[in-house]
Amino acid sequence: MQIHQNYSLKKHNTFGIDVCCKYYAEVKNENEITQLLSEARFKNKSKLIIGGGSNILFTKDFDGLVINQISNRIILSSEDEKYAFVSAEAGVIWHELVLFCVNKNLGGIENLSLIPGKVGAAPIQNIGAYGQELKNVFHSLKGIHIDDLKAVNFSSSDCKFGYRDSIFKKELKSKIIITEVILRLNKYPELNTSYGIIEDELSKLKKDNITIKNVSDIVCQIRRNKLPDPQKLGNAGSFFKNPEISIEEYNLLKSKYSELPGLKVSDTVIKIPAGWLIEKCGFKGKRIGNVGIHEKQALVIVNYGNGKPEEILKLKNKIIKKVNLKFNLELQQEVNII
Ligand code: FAD
Ligand code: EPU
Repeated sequence: MQIHQNYSLKKHNTFGIDVCCKYYAEVKNENEITQLLSEARFKNKSKLIIGGGSNILFTKDFDGLVINQISNRIILSSEDEKYAFVSAEAGVIWHELVLFCVNKNLGGIENLSLIPGKVGAAPIQNIGAYGQELKNVFHSLKGIHIDDLKAVNFSSSDCKFGYRDSIFKKELKSKIIITEVILRLNKYPELNTSYGIIEDELSKLKKDNITIKNVSDIVCQIRRNKLPDPQKLGNAGSFFKNPEISIEEYNLLKSKYSELPGLKVSDTVIKIPAGWLIEKCGFKGKRIGNVGIHEKQALVIVNYGNGKPEEILKLKNKIIKKVNLKFNLELQQEVNII
């Protein structure tokens, strides 16, 4: 295992921000992690685990140790009549896990196709898209506690998953290195096509037997049309979460803005697309210096190439302020700012 010093993280974050870390190591397995963390020189240093860097905004150099896992094993570990249990190491590219499952006709993550990043990060914010969330198929995970290097196991309820949320963003923030994720997938897949645009696109296929492969392909197509490719335009997906508000608050806003969209989350809570709020504030497609708001999706802040983190932070604050003034709603960021 090689440990790099004063190492640039530019190619390890999809915003393409050029910051350095004091130490950087790529690790293949749990032994290498414990060996690395046992080194005296890292004892009192900050540690940061990264995957694909697709949900991170670096704002300054990191004076500590950055660990990136390159483990890449996926196995079908067991099965019963209804379910197959698939185990993937943290360094596996998320979409490769999706393809592995789709090719075996194991249902449950096809709507999560093409989400950038690695498997180890998926539980951190309980990734979700097009009507599916990781928590719906999550069985358990394995990891290592950073402080005492003890092996840990988390069940789904231990993870306290919520919308773009988990225990790893709260009480256990930066405490656990996730090394393996085990999913419980359906051997007899039930399609989840409730998200409007998927239904619309599937009907265009004029096909009777829709498979999870069809759903996966359509999700990829929708995403390629709407979201910027980080290889070409720096971004970290949705910069903000969609606000969840009470029905009373929603009705009040709707009386002012009759076209306000909303998705029922429960009998008392409605989720509003932040992209709509940001668009209505006039930001969509706007460029300010080296950064801006994507022309097809107002939730996505983009870096045109030479953007500085301060420019992104300034734009983020401007958006929060304007949305608050216009709609009296406080946007929460989704991206991890470091
Ligand atoms: P990183 O960005 O490297 O890390 C994210 C966080 O997880 C950091 O806090 C990091 O410290 C922590 N972390 C990473 N790996 C580990 C580990 N092994 N153990 C412990 N902590 C760890 N997200 C969605 O939910 N739905 C979407 O539809 C979606 N679309 C996106 C589209 C685009 C174009 C982009 C750029 C991003 C999108 N995202 C989406 C966000 C992002 O892809 C996910 O959050 C993804 O899970 C991040 O994975 P990563 O490996 O890049 O994590
Ligand atoms: N909308 C606008 N203008 C915009 C963008 C969206 O008016 O510029 C409104 C439209 O009414 C549209 C609705 O928002 O119908 C929903 O848009 P979209 O389907 O693009 O989804 P989203 O709510 O903007 C969320 C996730 C995405 C995920 C998609 C698909 C969050 C914060 N974002 O976006 O996740 O891919 O749904 O499920 O929940 C991410 O987390 O990084 C991410 C990309």
